[in-house]
Amino acid sequence: MTKHPVEPFRIKSIEPITQLPRHERERKLAESGCNLFNIRAADVFIDLLTDSGTSAMSERQWGGLLRGDESYAGCRNFFHLEEVVRDLTGYQHVVPTHQGRAAEHLVFSLMLEKGDYVVSNTHFDTTRANVLYRGAIPVDFPDPSCEDVSSEYPFKGNIDCARLESFLQEHPGRVKVCLLTLTNNSVGGQPLSVANARTAAAICRKHQVPLFFDAARFAENAWFVSQREDSQSGRPVKEIARTIFDCGDGCLMSAKKDGLANIGGFIAMRDEAFAAQIKEMLVIFEGFHTYGGLAGRDLEAVARGLEEVTDPGYLAYRVGQVEWLGNRLAEEGATIVRPVGGHAVFIDAGALYPHIPPGEFPGQSLAVGFYREGGIRTVEIGSLMFGEIDPETHLSIHPAHELVRLAIPRRVYTESHLDYVARTFAEIYRGREKARGFAIEYQSPFLRHFTARLRELPAVVSIHAG
Ligand code: F0G
Repeated sequence: MTKHPVEPFRIKSIEPITQLPRHERERKLAESGCNLFNIRAADVFIDLLTDSGTSAMSERQWGGLLRGDESYAGCRNFFHLEEVVRDLTGYQHVVPTHQGRAAEHLVFSLMLEKGDYVVSNTHFDTTRANVLYRGAIPVDFPDPSCEDVSSEYPFKGNIDCARLESFLQEHPGRVKVCLLTLTNNSVGGQPLSVANARTAAAICRKHQVPLFFDAARFAENAWFVSQREDSQSGRPVKEIARTIFDCGDGCLMSAKKDGLANIGGFIAMRDEAFAAQIKEMLVIFEGFHTYGGLAGRDLEAVARGLEEVTDPGYLAYRVGQVEWLGNRLAEEGATIVRPVGGHAVFIDAGALYPHIPPGEFPGQSLAVGFYREGGIRTVEIGSLMFGEIDPETHLSIHPAHELVRLAIPRRVYTESHLDYVARTFAEIYRGREKARGFAIEYQSPFLRHFTARLRELPAVVSIHAG
């Protein structure tokens, strides 16, 4: 088994975490309706809910906060961010936003009308919601390799270019943008290759469809390319990232991931007229175009985070740590999505609990198990998050896989924290036959997983249903 990479930093400031006793955890679960979104962060021991906005900033970034220029217009931190983003992407026009979904909202408000299409390798949830909010239709063409969770195909984050081409041919003038998500979060944090970006770009050019990137995890994507794509091996990560950006017309960025910041985002693009329109909207919804809803100090943290994130030493550690956890979990019996993604390990709860049918949420059973056994917070990505009722047949439709995501905050947890996660999983694995399903007691019509309340079913129901 590969070793955990040595952290390329030492710890200067610490944040205490405490483990509640088991009976307290049981009480918190009952109070939360077995929904981990309803549990206070202080009651969580290891928090793997998301890698978004949860990074530990470097001393350079914390130092940058003191250099925050809080002038309403033209603060120096904006010009620093603009320079860093131009250098990274080659896109001349940079518009800050408070986070990724604000960038999505602005761009789609200008680009999309009712009935238009957006095509993607896979839209992230908020991206999909923002497309739908405009009355437009998000269409995903993930690479077929991602249907098989065990396949080791190195670029499962690719877009299926054959389907892209035929869709653009069949819907002339109706597709307003192609959005490639780097890495492809929804299929397991999997990368997209330079070759794939180039082919997609050629198809988009032929059909005169603009190509944008959702660049939330662009550096992890470029790192994978440097390790896996022969034509790119040996090139600096920053150059690889630039090669990918060169294929497109612009990007949307949530700086809460590869910006190594706790808040922030931006839109960057080539088209000056489009940028002017965005800035007009920005001042209504986010703020003047040199701050976009952020404090000057936050702009500085993002600028400095972007300067750090393409460091190969950091990325080798970052991606190596996530892979190490994936391998440790597999060693303890977990079936995981392969290859291990850049920001998270995804466990196949359907494979762990064959006796719990999708309608009883095996993923939620595992997520609850992690909290109950170890005070660890993860997130279900299966029938609770994505299950729907077919409006015509009134039958349940379930996603292809019942997964649980363990997203790893950047530079936050050490080897022993993650080893504890693997040991907790080993306990869960030993008791897997006794795990029980759940029933929903309350749900909202949209994004139900955030607010649902659930009830654990008696063991006998699950066994009969299975
Ligand atoms: N795009 C991708 C690929 C994302 O993963 C996210 C957020 C967003 C856009 C939206 O950015 O949160 O700054 O508004 N992903 C988080 C996650 C929430 O947990 O995966 P945001």
